[in-house]
Amino acid sequence: MIVCIPSLLTPEVLAHLQQTLADVEFVDGKLTAGWHAKLVKANQQLAAGGTREHLTQTVQAALSRNPLFQAAARPRAIHSILFSRYEVGMSYGRHVDNALMASGRRSDLSFTVFLNDPADYGGGELVIEGADSETPYKLAAGSAILYPSTTLHRVDPVTEGTRLVAVGWIQSFVRDPGQREILFDLEAVKRSLFAQSGKTDEFDLLTKSIANLLRRWAE
Ligand code: NI
Repeated sequence: MIVCIPSLLTPEVLAHLQQTLADVEFVDGKLTAGWHAKLVKANQQLAAGGTREHLTQTVQAALSRNPLFQAAARPRAIHSILFSRYEVGMSYGRHVDNALMASGRRSDLSFTVFLNDPADYGGGELVIEGADSETPYKLAAGSAILYPSTTLHRVDPVTEGTRLVAVGWIQSFVRDPGQREILFDLEAVKRSLFAQSGKTDEFDLLTKSIANLLRRWAE
């Protein structure tokens, strides 16, 4: 399941991130890639330190407040957030993300938060491969995409301008993607039922079932 989260960041938070990232040191992205991903990773990222800590907390807070993200990811930990910059000619070739990250957390879901306008750069699409297709994503500034860490994916070369993103990983309470999708769909029905008819007997039963499925599946 791939979920786009429009306007994850408010315009104020987005502007704060953009201003902060305009005036900081970036380092070679190969420093945080596994040995084979290093072969295809050509970008820059914000160096570790206080600024990265602060911006990480900003992105974590925005995700934690977002109901769509919460329903889709059921996050146990939002971790390993990186701020990446791609100048002209930079790309990140086809790879799969590491299953276990340096943080000691598992990657069940990956996300990209787009930090500048798609009109600001050419190329630079995030391309996610399916079994028999591939789909390019290039979202509005402040929007995010959440996708399974199990996929092969890449970032196509930037042909003009600069691509600025935050990327990170989720360890979910619900490891199985099929179970996560059932909970996501039921949550959508629950909200729709409530909007139509309020807190009915049916709403209460559905709420009970979602809670009890989560008790069975959460780890
Ligand atoms: Ni990746």
